[in-house]
Amino acid sequence: MRLVIFGPQGAGKGTQAARISEKFGISAISTGEIFRWAIKGKTALGNEVLEYVSAGKLVPDELTIRVVSERIAADDCAEGFLLDGFPRNTAQAEALDDLLSDVECGLDAALVIEVPEEVALRRLTGRRVCPDCGRNYHVDAPPENNWTCDACGGHVVARDDDVDEAALKQRLATYHEQTEPLHEYYEAKGLLRQVDGTGTPDEVFTRIVEALG
Ligand code: AP5
Ligand code: MG
Repeated sequence: MRLVIFGPQGAGKGTQAARISEKFGISAISTGEIFRWAIKGKTALGNEVLEYVSAGKLVPDELTIRVVSERIAADDCAEGFLLDGFPRNTAQAEALDDLLSDVECGLDAALVIEVPEEVALRRLTGRRVCPDCGRNYHVDAPPENNWTCDACGGHVVARDDDVDEAALKQRLATYHEQTEPLHEYYEAKGLLRQVDGTGTPDEVFTRIVEALG
């Protein structure tokens, strides 16, 4: 199964991607996470993307598309994958179609998780993440033990681009301008599956499984 998932910041893409990956046995690939790892590891890629990610701006298409094309060529993606946060504009969606035209199957579905902006903002300002393994938490659903990650023991903190108010506003504005047009793009191809992202993570996941049929 080959899926993409999009939706505004804080919609729960990363939260649901982990569940989808487990249920359907496909790798979940988050471009945002690839970039954050590269920044943390101070790699050449990290140095290139730092200014964009810190400001909440899109990393240039050429670089992002190269990263995704290399990642989905890996062995663990042979039977399918879930892309979280890619594509984020029409140029990236077209590039993904081109990449998949070389393999026999194209995309099976494009999931969009929809939440009102006030819900998204509440989730983002309360979000905490483990910088070591990427697991998501929230101030209302913290790890069991004093901000120590349940999965790996890392020290759970807020994400830099959530704390920076200007970056947060920029991310939401970019979503409306550049990513929302993907609704029409995927609807025209009959691939769009809209999911209500309000309610608990389990409720949202049930809707996703139904939407995927
Ligand atoms: P990225 O990492 O993709 O961030 P984002 O798009 O801003 O999305 P978020 O990760 O903030 O939201 P989410 O929907 O995953 O929410 P989550 O599940 O964590 O991108 C970061 C940056 O990288 C970009 O700004 C850009 O610079 C760059 N980038 C990435 N991809 C790119 C691309 N394709 N092209 C160019 N640049 C790119 O949930 C949020 C919180 O809510 C968590 O605390 C969670 O625990 C909680 N929560 C989730 N669901 C629920 C629920 N149902 N009920 C209650 N709480 C919930
Ligand atoms: Mg995410």
